[in-house]
Amino acid sequence: MFDRFHRKIHYLRISVTDRCNLRCRYCMPEEGVKFYSKSEVLSYEEIQQVVEVAAEMGIDKIRLTGGEPLVRKDIVDLVKLIAETPGVNDLGLTTNGLLLDELALPLKKAGLRRVNISLDTLSPEKYLTITRGGDLNKVLSGIKAAQKVGLNPIKINCVVKYNCEETDATEVAKFGKENGLEVRCIKQMDLENGFFGIVHGGTGGDCTQCNRLRLTSNGMVKPCLFSNSEYSIRQYGIREALLLALNAKPEKGECNISSCFHNIGG
Ligand code: 5AD
Ligand code: SF4
Repeated sequence: MFDRFHRKIHYLRISVTDRCNLRCRYCMPEEGVKFYSKSEVLSYEEIQQVVEVAAEMGIDKIRLTGGEPLVRKDIVDLVKLIAETPGVNDLGLTTNGLLLDELALPLKKAGLRRVNISLDTLSPEKYLTITRGGDLNKVLSGIKAAQKVGLNPIKINCVVKYNCEETDATEVAKFGKENGLEVRCIKQMDLENGFFGIVHGGTGGDCTQCNRLRLTSNGMVKPCLFSNSEYSIRQYGIREALLLALNAKPEKGECNISSCFHNIGG
């Protein structure tokens, strides 16, 4: 399907939960936020129906995000359901990597193809501080597990405050080079003020190349990370919500006060 600016839209990012096992400083306040209740969050059946309809409409690429997608119960079952949906030929997941050591193999077997793993520093102390309690070693073993089972490609998302030459980012870049991982440096974004930049080494952030729609964990289809518009699949029905969001895609990102990273998934 095409939007009003002739961009081909064939990629759907699905946030499967707004919850997370970390509290990164640039994403969530320490005490967390008010999370959606169970009845608000889409069931796996509903998510699969969205994927089915979206695939019929031309979506062939799906990415699961969060919060942290791996904290949602039975996530492997959802991956399998989506991977088996006709028309889906690229299924990826964005994770903080903490639970990847245990889950990489079942996820791969269920049909997951690729993973993006968040890693902002190689210093265990700094990692602990940034994430408010995360264990860097778990992430590193998660990355190894992903490599071992053949998830491919594995990309590393490295969030920086101002620029990619910061020490932590250069260390992560070096680690990536040594281990055959593609590192993408992401400038810390501020959704409320509409401040965002191009993701170096990725396509996100460049509005002319935008190919995506987003689905939040409570069933809202969003045209853009930097847009306040959202259309509920429960209210409009799946097809209509997708079409409304498609037609509401802005030429360029604006600001967004109705969502933040933990519920829209970066
Ligand atoms: N700016 C940029 N990236 C962010 N992420 C979370 N919050 C922000 C922010 N404010 C990133 C995470 C992860 C991806 C899903 O989004 O580090 O890599
Ligand atoms: Fe969790 Fe990712 Fe937000 Fe960190 S950035 S708190 S890992 S959702």
